[in-house]
This record gives sequence, C-alpha cells and structure tokens, in this order.
Amino acid sequence: MEREKRILLCVTGGIAVFKAAALTSKLVQQGYKVKVIMTESAKEFVTPLTFQALSRDHVYMDTFTEPNPEKIAHIDIADWADLVVIAPATANIIGKLANGIADDMMTTTLLAATAPIMIAPAMNVHMYDHPAVRKNMETLRQFGYTYIEPNEGYLACGYTGKGRMAEPEDLLSMVDHHFIRQENPLWYGKKVLVTAGPTQEEIDPVRFFSNRSSGKMGYAIAEIAAARGATVTLVSGPSALTEPHGVELISVRTAEEMYKAVDSRFAGTDVVIKAAAVADYRPKHSHTNKMKKTDVDISIEMERTTDILKSLGEKKEKQILVGFAAESENIAENARKKIRTKNLDLIAANSITSDGVGFQVDTNELMLYDANGQEYLIPLTTKKQAAEYLLDAINPLMEEK
Ligand code: CTP
Repeated sequence: MEREKRILLCVTGGIAVFKAAALTSKLVQQGYKVKVIMTESAKEFVTPLTFQALSRDHVYMDTFTEPNPEKIAHIDIADWADLVVIAPATANIIGKLANGIADDMMTTTLLAATAPIMIAPAMNVHMYDHPAVRKNMETLRQFGYTYIEPNEGYLACGYTGKGRMAEPEDLLSMVDHHFIRQENPLWYGKKVLVTAGPTQEEIDPVRFFSNRSSGKMGYAIAEIAAARGATVTLVSGPSALTEPHGVELISVRTAEEMYKAVDSRFAGTDVVIKAAAVADYRPKHSHTNKMKKTDVDISIEMERTTDILKSLGEKKEKQILVGFAAESENIAENARKKIRTKNLDLIAANSITSDGVGFQVDTNELMLYDANGQEYLIPLTTKKQAAEYLLDAINPLMEEK
C-alpha cells in the first residue's frame, strides 16, 4: 500500500482563511494527511478548533508548546511534510520568508522544511503590486517556491483587482498535479492521442457495416493516461461509454472521419495509441436513399479505407506509435509483421478467440511486442489494469526518445 501524502498547510491571517478551512476538508476527503500551522493573526479569522476538526489533528501555533518531549515540533513537522502549502499567504509571511526571518512556529518550520513549498497569496490589489512584495515574491521564486496565482475580482477590502486567493478546488487541483507530476515524470504534460471504438461505414441512410468493438480498451487507456497527467485526446467511433474524466473527446463515425481527426492532430502529438477497430473496407457507393429490397440477391462492392496507422507510420517523426492487433491465429508472427509494415514502436495483440479477451468484455489479455524485439505478456486482467501495464511498457520507449 502506498503511504498517504502529507500536506503541511500554513494558514496566515487574512479573510481567505475560510477558504483554507474548505481546502483542509477537501484534502482530507481526497485521502491526504493534513497538519495545520496557524499564525496568531489567522486565529482572529477562524478558530484553531475548526482546523483541528477538519484535519483531525493538533493545530500548531506556538514554537514553545512542545507536545512531545522527544521531538522538536517545528523540525519534526517540517521533516514530516511531502508538500507545504501556504494559504492564504499574506504580504507579511512572504516578506519574512524572503528575508529568512524565523520568529514564530510557522516561520521556523518553513525555514526548516525541505519539501517543496507552494504559496497562495491573498491581499489587497495595491499591496500585491507593491514593489517590496513583488521583490520578495521574486526572491522566493528564485529559492524554488511556486505560486498559486490569486484571482482577479472583488476583494474583501472593497477594491476590485488581483489579490483574491485562488479557490479551494483550484488549490486542491494544484496539489494533486504536484504529485501526479512527481510520480509520472514521463507522462506529465505529454500530448497523447488515443483512438477507440468501431467505425460505421454507410450502405444507405439506415444501414452500415461495423464491428463488435465497444471502445472499452481505448477509453481505459485514455483515462489512465489522463490520470498520469497527460493531455489526452480521444478520437472515438460510436460508443455507448461515457466520456472519461479530463479527456478531450472527438466523436467520429467513419474510418475517413477518424483518419482526418487523427491526421490533423498527429504533428503535435507525443504518443499515439490506436485501439480503435477501424473498418478495413467500406461500400464503394453509399446510397442516398434507403435501398429497397427486390427478389434477387445483391452484392455490395467494397473498397479499402485508408490504413490510418500505416499512414501515421509513414510520416512519423518523434512520435511513439502504438498499434493494436486483433488476431485469431499466428499472433506473434502477424503482430511482428505489423510492427514492420506500419513502422510501429509497439503493438498490443490479443487473441480474439480466447475467453474474456477482446471485444465488449471488461477484461483483456494482451501480448506486447516492441520494435526492439522485446515482448511482454499482460495476463488476463481488467481493461483498466491492462491500460496501466500498457502505458508502463511505453515508458522505456519514452525514455529512449
Ligand atoms: N487500423 C487503422 N486503420 C485501418 C485499419 C486498422 O489505423 N483502416 C489500425 C487499428 O486501429 C489497429 C491496427 O491498425 O491499431 C491493427 O488492426 P487489425 O485490424 O488488427 O489489423 P489490420 O491492419 O487490419 O490487418 P489484418 O486485417 O490483416 O489483421
């Protein structure tokens, strides 16, 4: 089990202390362990009891109150923290920190902390613009501190302008992103394009050729890549699945529409994962009116669609290209051939004849083959877990680039 992430929340005196209380609640609900330090002036706005109840821990205020004689509190909690958040941060705390002043519990702890420090300033617009505050903020930036920018808007002092502390949801998101980035340095901020689902190739206004793909594998990949901090675009054929969180969904219908959607985004993309089951053929002529039945048999002439993956392989520069292969025989041989013919970096092959594998089900078993000749088995597991393993298998390829 992974250890819970530890946040040291430093609350200084400003009207935005109430937002710090909301942040404490949200952090705890997200599973973070939170300890709070308050300055004397912060206590004027919200009582320590509020933070104690929300964090389910002592609130630290006085350097000389040492609850545990075996430890020195300000050093102990400085060492404890994985991340320090100062919210709200007044001009006073910014000034003290920039000048190395340590005259209370919070400032002694902050000087002793080796964890990254995020500052959420909150003050009057003119204070925020004051050259002394600007200079102090710049000094802290050079020390490696990061800022959660205040918003513009109505300020409690009656002015309108920049200085209103960021909202608790935005602070929470910054905290989440800090850890996502730390844990996924390869994926964080990467542009990932995933395709999913079937395509539909029109015969007439009411009929089409398609296949049994549900989109589950591609949607799982998109979701997991987004959870690793990638900027994900999911180009999906018709699917009943709901849009994965934090993913840009582009809905398409035909192989041609999917080709255009993928091709136009390819240049700026780092990783392309083509999980879609794209039709290889479409009717040569699609009828504008519904086809009427007659007494004779008919045949529908089919033509090839563009092989999207192959076309990407031909123009690929720095991109990592991952294909899928649904096979019913000679899996390894066919998959390796596709790596060569489509210029892929990795292919994920499944045997569609095995139980619990392939179309529509929630599980999958995949054999991965990469262009360096490595192969890995992802044993039968959920499609979400398979997506995790698949992205892990892409890690070494990203490191190589
Ligand atoms: N693919 C594609 N464009 C197509 C057909 C397939 O981009 N017109 C992609 C799929 O998204 C998948 C990969 O090609 O990533 C392999 O698809 P698959 O149907 O297994 O193989 P085919 O290339 O169609 O070869 P075959 O029919 O011989 O198995």
